[in-house]
Amino acid sequence: MSLQLEGKHILLGLSGGIACYKAAELVRLLVKDGATVQVVMSEAATQFITPVTMQALSNRPVRTSQWDAAEFNNMAHINMSREADAMLIAPASADLIAKLAQGRADDLLSLTALARPIERCPLLVAPAMNREMWAHPATQRNLRQIAADGAHVLNVGTGDQACGETGDGRMLEAAEIRDELIAFFQPKRLAGRRVLITAGPTFEPIDPVRGLTNRSSGKMGFAVARAAAEAGAEVTLVAGPVHLPTPRGVRRIDVQTAQQMFDAVLPRAGQQDVFIATAAVADWRPAKLADHKIKKQPGQAAPAGFELTENPDILAAVGKLAASRPFCVGFAAESQDLAKFARDKLERKRADLIVGNIGAATFGQDDNTLLLVDKAGERELPRNDKLSLARELVSEIAARMTPTTTP
Ligand code: CTP
Repeated sequence: MSLQLEGKHILLGLSGGIACYKAAELVRLLVKDGATVQVVMSEAATQFITPVTMQALSNRPVRTSQWDAAEFNNMAHINMSREADAMLIAPASADLIAKLAQGRADDLLSLTALARPIERCPLLVAPAMNREMWAHPATQRNLRQIAADGAHVLNVGTGDQACGETGDGRMLEAAEIRDELIAFFQPKRLAGRRVLITAGPTFEPIDPVRGLTNRSSGKMGFAVARAAAEAGAEVTLVAGPVHLPTPRGVRRIDVQTAQQMFDAVLPRAGQQDVFIATAAVADWRPAKLADHKIKKQPGQAAPAGFELTENPDILAAVGKLAASRPFCVGFAAESQDLAKFARDKLERKRADLIVGNIGAATFGQDDNTLLLVDKAGERELPRNDKLSLARELVSEIAARMTPTTTP
């Protein structure tokens, strides 16, 4: 997959807290994704993890003091914040958040946060503290204040804390913070929009141990869900049986059968701005579900009376909605004549856009080639990883949506 933070210069600030140990992994992940990372640490942070560790992982000298004579003009706070695309403070302690809320600048970290050009260098804050400190009205007031001042405050995790207590206030894991940062840089083309997505295969049971399914991995649908969430949409993902983690910020509903997928989608579809059907829905299901495992009978080639019945077509049903029909996007996985079959599906399912791909070549793979087919014509999105394609698709969808419905 392409480097997600290539060319980005991140100013990573650490304030004091046990979660400093996660910052070591974070800097490693950011560098691995192509970012240049300049670390600045408060005095308290150096009690939890050494600047040596952070320097080795970031490949740059770590700044800890506003009085560092090694800086050519002795203005580390100005120099660092002028070259950064974003400042990320992880962990952000309760004390540091209080300082930010008041605009104090009594050490290099807070000084740099205050001196950064607000428009050019946005501030992301990953809080980390004990649950009582987190819940304290003063902390919550300070968080509201820094958000009002333009900071992007990340969620906290819930669970066991270093102090032995359990609750809210843990810092997000390093990979979650990395994903939040990547999402932060994506254009917010679907801000305020609601997007419903189906993904993965369906599983149609034959008996308690067997079923009909297909080789869809769900990767493309999950990538589209992630891309839509990154673009600022409120995303609901109805997923068949797949082994994939839920993208951050996405609401997930797990289903097994086509009928369950239909039942999850139809009541919600009317409240959505966009419906994207990426699921490889089984066209048929066994007419009867056997209560017990179907046993092989001596001398019998196949089970007697094994009949199939047709599943409802989810995309066609949403396409037919009379009132508040969302912008409908379908997928066509074909083995030949892609453009012809895609156009046929566009009309048959009353979709606004059909995304075609050659099924066997894409199932389970990490990259893909897409052909977009709509009333206006055809457009190929050349081979790329599924997340990059999903982002391109999201921007194509956003460009086709009627501006009158823009919130
Ligand atoms: N689809 C759906 N519900 C179904 C079948 C398909 O919502 N019961 C959606 C898929 O999610 C996809 C599009 O319709 O977005 C096309 O799916 P596909 O299986 O290729 O289409 P079919 O209608 O099965 O057409 P064909 O068998 O002719 O390829």
